[in-house]
Amino acid sequence: MSFFEKILNKSNSYLYYKNNYFNLIKENENLRNENKKLKSSLNEKSEEIDSFNNEFKKLSKDNEGIKNSVNSNKSLINSLKNDLKNERLRNLENNYAFVFHDTIKESKWLKSKNFSLINAASNYSFIYILYRILDEMKPVNILEMGLGQTTKLTTQYADYFKFSNLTTIEGDQVWIDSFSKNIEIPDNANIIQCDIERVVIDESLEIPNKTIESNRYKNLDKILKDEKFDLIIIDGPQGFIDYPPIKSSTYSRTNIWNLIPNNLADEFIIIIDDYDRIGEQNTIKHVEELLNKENIKFDKCITKGLKTQCIILTEKYKFVKWF
Ligand SMILES: C[S@@+](CC[C@H](N)C(=O)[O-])C[C@H]1O[C@@H](n2cnc3c(N)ncnc32)[C@H](O)[C@@H]1O
Repeated sequence: MSFFEKILNKSNSYLYYKNNYFNLIKENENLRNENKKLKSSLNEKSEEIDSFNNEFKKLSKDNEGIKNSVNSNKSLINSLKNDLKNERLRNLENNYAFVFHDTIKESKWLKSKNFSLINAASNYSFIYILYRILDEMKPVNILEMGLGQTTKLTTQYADYFKFSNLTTIEGDQVWIDSFSKNIEIPDNANIIQCDIERVVIDESLEIPNKTIESNRYKNLDKILKDEKFDLIIIDGPQGFIDYPPIKSSTYSRTNIWNLIPNNLADEFIIIIDDYDRIGEQNTIKHVEELLNKENIKFDKCITKGLKTQCIILTEKYKFVKWF
């Protein structure tokens, strides 16, 4: 042993490090091995993660495909629902057409039966209910708003039943001239041209922050004065604001509001067409409010084909509900 070694062997820290040196080398090797193992397991895991990632991407793509097919099935179901609804209405309409044809077969007063009930004109449920009201309820004073197919019925009724009076209101003079050429207008029937004005519905109807525009016959209440009607047919003016595009009114055909109660007979029927539209439904809601305010008792029923009609009637005419 060299002198230098002898000196070193006297140092405790030298002895400590000397004794632990081999242990440390061993430990170091173990750690390296451990590290290697960890690295290789990490490589394995990253392959697993990559395969998970790929699987996830594939599933997301499949999911997207399923979502798209669910959405297209949903829209298919909606269009089928719509078709079914239209088919149901068409069936109802056809049924009314058959019943109408049978109903008028032996009619004493309806001689000319050439109706064209299509598009914006009256439909079969409307013409049927109107015929039965005229034929069985025999109204005396009739107000008709909107000249057209229904007028073929009302003019023939007035022509046969001379005790009755018919006032037909129409906005379009060209339409009056063209239509009148093809029908007989009896002495007790009067077709009045009345301009159509655009009005803003009063805010008192409590629809806040909305300017509600609507078409109505100008000064109709002044034209009708104090005349009392037991049948009011509402099918004019047009229920939409601008055309094209069609923009439905929130309230449409509101002239009736100004006729309550002054132009109503003690017993009456009001029939409004296009009740499938929100504008006509809202107008009738307010009609009901006005009648209630006047303490006028009434009942209501609906007829429905390709278009819907709402009928408001007083006690004397309650049988109309069974028509
Ligand atoms: C919904 S239509 C209904 C009129 C009528 N009650 C009927 O049964 O045909 C309402 C308005 O459309 C217009 N109108 C009706 N038929 C028309 C036609 N064939 N050509 C042009 N305008 C027409 C008229 O101004 C009429 O007042």
